[in-house]
Amino acid sequence: MDNIVLIGFMGSGKSTVGRKLADRLGWTFTDTDARVEQEQGTTISELFRQRGEAEFRELESRVLEDVLAEGRQVVATGGGIVLAERNRLRMLEGGLVVALKAEAGEVIKRVSSDRSRPLLQGDVGERVRTLMEQRKHAYDFAHLSIDTSALSVEQVIGQILERLQYKL
Ligand code: S3P
Repeated sequence: MDNIVLIGFMGSGKSTVGRKLADRLGWTFTDTDARVEQEQGTTISELFRQRGEAEFRELESRVLEDVLAEGRQVVATGGGIVLAERNRLRMLEGGLVVALKAEAGEVIKRVSSDRSRPLLQGDVGERVRTLMEQRKHAYDFAHLSIDTSALSVEQVIGQILERLQYKL
């Protein structure tokens, strides 16, 4: 299926890159977190609080499946969606999977301005470093991996478009 699926840790730039890339291609931009919130009529942090992480993971997996069936979409995924094997397989079948990577310091800077993420409550720096360590290989299955730390959004998009010629 012809989609581009952006994966990566929280704050790696998936939504920013995804929105612009979709514009450039004339494709639809979809954010799995936003879709879950829309369908459930509440926020991710409320979902975590009231129904727990396991139920959120079920909801995001279902959304991923629905979204990938549509085609011609740039999909920005939640940072933990890759933890389930069935999601990894679906993404690999559903399009070009692109991992966006950023250094811990950069991620901490970016996520500090939005304190709503349930997994980053408390000491943000400590939470980011711990989760990054736990997930250090979680994004390795991507078709393409881009370290965004020293790149502009345009440069990241350029690399994805170049790779797209060979995949779709
Ligand atoms: C999560 C990342 C978040 C969101 C939820 C859990 C994670 O999405 O899905 O808070 O487990 O990494 P972003 O990566 O868009 O912040």
